[in-house]
Amino acid sequence: MYVHNTINPYLINARRQPVSKKLFSNLRLAAMTPGAPRAGAEMAIGVEAGRIALVCPRAEVPADWLLADMEDLGGRLVTPALIDCHTHLVFGGNRADEFRMRLEGASYEAIAEAGGGIVSTMRATRALSEDELVVAALPRLDALIAEGVATVEIKSGYGLTVADELKMLRAARALGRQRAVRVVTSLLAAHAVPPEYKGRADAYLDEVVLPGMEAAHAESLIDAVDGFCEAIAFSPGQIERVFSHAARLGLPVKLHAEQLSNLGGARLAAAHGALSADHLEYLDEAGAQAMAAAGTIAVLLPGAFYFLRERQAPPVAALRAAGARIAIATDCNPGSSPLSSLLTAMNMACTLFGLTPEEALAGVTREAAAALGLGDEIGTIEPGKRAEFAVWDVNDPAELSYRIGFNPLHRRIIEA
Ligand code: NIG
Ligand code: FE
Repeated sequence: MYVHNTINPYLINARRQPVSKKLFSNLRLAAMTPGAPRAGAEMAIGVEAGRIALVCPRAEVPADWLLADMEDLGGRLVTPALIDCHTHLVFGGNRADEFRMRLEGASYEAIAEAGGGIVSTMRATRALSEDELVVAALPRLDALIAEGVATVEIKSGYGLTVADELKMLRAARALGRQRAVRVVTSLLAAHAVPPEYKGRADAYLDEVVLPGMEAAHAESLIDAVDGFCEAIAFSPGQIERVFSHAARLGLPVKLHAEQLSNLGGARLAAAHGALSADHLEYLDEAGAQAMAAAGTIAVLLPGAFYFLRERQAPPVAALRAAGARIAIATDCNPGSSPLSSLLTAMNMACTLFGLTPEEALAGVTREAAAALGLGDEIGTIEPGKRAEFAVWDVNDPAELSYRIGFNPLHRRIIEA
């Protein structure tokens, strides 16, 4: 059953006794389990109590499933529902003026150092209420959902006071209640030093980031802690303090690392067992190896690479050689990646970074799930996982990465 936006599927099932089985039949499957064959014909998926209970050829469906509610998917391609594992979807205003300045030659760093950049979005975000932030973010979220996304990570990081970071996180949680989508949140208070703490980054950590983390955790507003390790943001030593505090609270960590220069952020993230290190244009081989050894997912963000007209691509060959796992995300944000299309990010990952279409699809399903610590729940189609699928009007899964600005989604299926 397609779950309408405003209906909470969990409540529907609570009233239905016993839990019914549902069989989706006549579909081609890109299960995205490691080593699974490419999409084959004539498969069936059985779902019970919101989880996948059966995946088999259509002709081999066991007798007890033949009585279940059945839905014919017309031979369409079914993939796991997509996962956007890195976004800054909640923010106020936009930065079209800075886009113009950059086209005239100003650099992203120079704009940030002159008091623009993240701090200009901070001003616009502080000026909005929680409800206004939700209203501003909904069209961006809806654009992702329209392309088959059922899980989206949303970061704070444009409030930069305890109250404004909490406001952003509450808005992110509210988005998850307003749409049939799983919202996973990260605290990114260590995103930029706000003007009132200029030159006092450590005091900002002591007075805002660390207490903000405790307050957000106490309100169950965060699923992970993120940071921005860069000359225009926080040093490795400062990020280390943030990560240690997160560890004390039992929160997983992730990091914006090696986006504009190589400060060794990915190695630091790996040493802390981070779920992911993200961006990685300036990552070196040792960093790639450290990430692979720690199981830290490499989240590549081709939208930011494209929009900032970066010249150095992330070292995909070194990541592959090291055996690191690669995810892809939009990085949807007003400054470096005003992109709300995960399909476009997949296309960019192929054209700009040289990923294969198979790697790009794994990057927005299985690997994106792992980047959020949800690898046991979502991201592949196999028994035990949540029944969250995207149904596509395409023949070959590679078509999902191939087209630009075209949405072949037939519909999402989210069973509860
Ligand atoms: O992921 N790298 C830092 N943070 C964002 C950009 C933030 C902004 O410019 O508003 C990113 O690219
Ligand atoms: Fe980001």
